[in-house]
Amino acid sequence: MEKTQQFIGQNKEKFVAELFDLLRIPSVSADPAFQGDVQACATHLATHLKEIGLDEVAIYPTAGHPIVYAEKIIDKHLPTVLVYGHYDVQPADPLELWHSPAFEPVIKTTEIHPEGAIFARGACDDKGQFFMHVKALEAMLRSNELPCNVKLMIEGEEEIGSPNLAIFVKENKAKLKADIILVSDTGMLANDVPSITTGLRGLSYVEVEVTGPNRDLHSGLYGGCVANPINILTQMIASLHDENNHITIPGFYDKVVELSAEDRAEMAKAPFSEEAYCKALDLRQTHGEFGYSTMERGSIRPTLDVNGIWGGYTGEGAKTVIASKAYAKISMRLVPDQDPEEITRLFQEHFEKIAPNSVQVKVHPHHGGEPVVTPTNSFAYDAAAKAYEQTFGKKPIPVRSGGSIPIIAMFEKELGLKTILMGFGLDSDAIHSPNEHYGLFNFYKGIETIPYFFKNFSQQ
Ligand code: BES
Ligand code: MN
Ligand code: MN
Repeated sequence: MEKTQQFIGQNKEKFVAELFDLLRIPSVSADPAFQGDVQACATHLATHLKEIGLDEVAIYPTAGHPIVYAEKIIDKHLPTVLVYGHYDVQPADPLELWHSPAFEPVIKTTEIHPEGAIFARGACDDKGQFFMHVKALEAMLRSNELPCNVKLMIEGEEEIGSPNLAIFVKENKAKLKADIILVSDTGMLANDVPSITTGLRGLSYVEVEVTGPNRDLHSGLYGGCVANPINILTQMIASLHDENNHITIPGFYDKVVELSAEDRAEMAKAPFSEEAYCKALDLRQTHGEFGYSTMERGSIRPTLDVNGIWGGYTGEGAKTVIASKAYAKISMRLVPDQDPEEITRLFQEHFEKIAPNSVQVKVHPHHGGEPVVTPTNSFAYDAAAKAYEQTFGKKPIPVRSGGSIPIIAMFEKELGLKTILMGFGLDSDAIHSPNEHYGLFNFYKGIETIPYFFKNFSQQ
């Protein structure tokens, strides 16, 4: 991989400039107002993939946003790596909290990224990360050092739960035939503590609606006599955790796999400072399920969180009113072997059961996803671990992440393939938040590390 690494070394600025072009396209999948931009991003990407010499480049339309596909088959008898990523991004709002516009990328230094970081929506999640694969491939192609076959599938709907990718995968199993899936859409512990993500939490997401009276009422004339849906909803939500911060939904923990004492001790070896964690978030202390560490609460334990809650009057001044309706969006992060559909059902049954007779409750399920744990005793894991050693000079630590990529479990089910999660982001990179960024160190390190994975994985 010598020539490849040389090519990377000589083209770093070009790579960043090209990433900037990608980041300037506001490919927000959730908001229909950006539909044209999402399409434009797919077109831009496909054109670029053709330019770097990939074959079978195509934009596959779906009922939603398109999927971009490309491949390079050098020899049918060699292994094939299927790279997955997503070119869609989260909405950028609240816009006023960005220090520079979300879709006008700039490089600034931070305490954690002294050599500079790219600030833009999607810089880390996931444009900056999947683009590392595009650049690593370009480098290997230009140096004649691509050691195996590669297929690239970049979707435009990850941030809205990949509603159409599952259909595409089911219909294109032969086209997607591969030996391993490689994804850079997660993080690592720190720039001097490389890690490989070995698990993702699943997700169950619901929206609830509580209705009291059939219209908004004067809170003096009716107050005290009718159920206030906001009061009721907040009581119901509060009751979903007990005094130990355990979730109270009957059956919620039934299928949770408890880690052995050895596994927990192994996990506790990963460097983690509670103090630094609190300091970074301006907290006096952390909060969570009794009996578990912060690392465990954020990865191997399930959660229930209100993501948004609204109802009644929230404008200027005071309006004396009892609202007719109150709403909340609630996410539950799941761990093996919880089943998202079952958990959604348990939530719904419980939520309807605890509602007092004075209100009506509706539960609308949104997207979900299954949890994933990837093996650490596989040839592919060793190939990845060795690649990190080759570029970081250190063995990576296996770490289970708290985030979710719902499609990964589906890949295993439909394609029978395991996934290697080679993420290079940091938790502090503010993905989904204002001022999302991605370190130049991380971007370059990713581009350098990926070719070694290809090389190591080909040597089987
Ligand atoms: N790339 C993230 C998931 C992620 C980030 C995993 C960091 C591990 C570490 C992905 O784009 C994402 O945001 N997923 C969503 C789920 C989706 C259904 C909207 C999530 O985790 O909330
Ligand atoms: Mn992502
Ligand atoms: Mn995301």
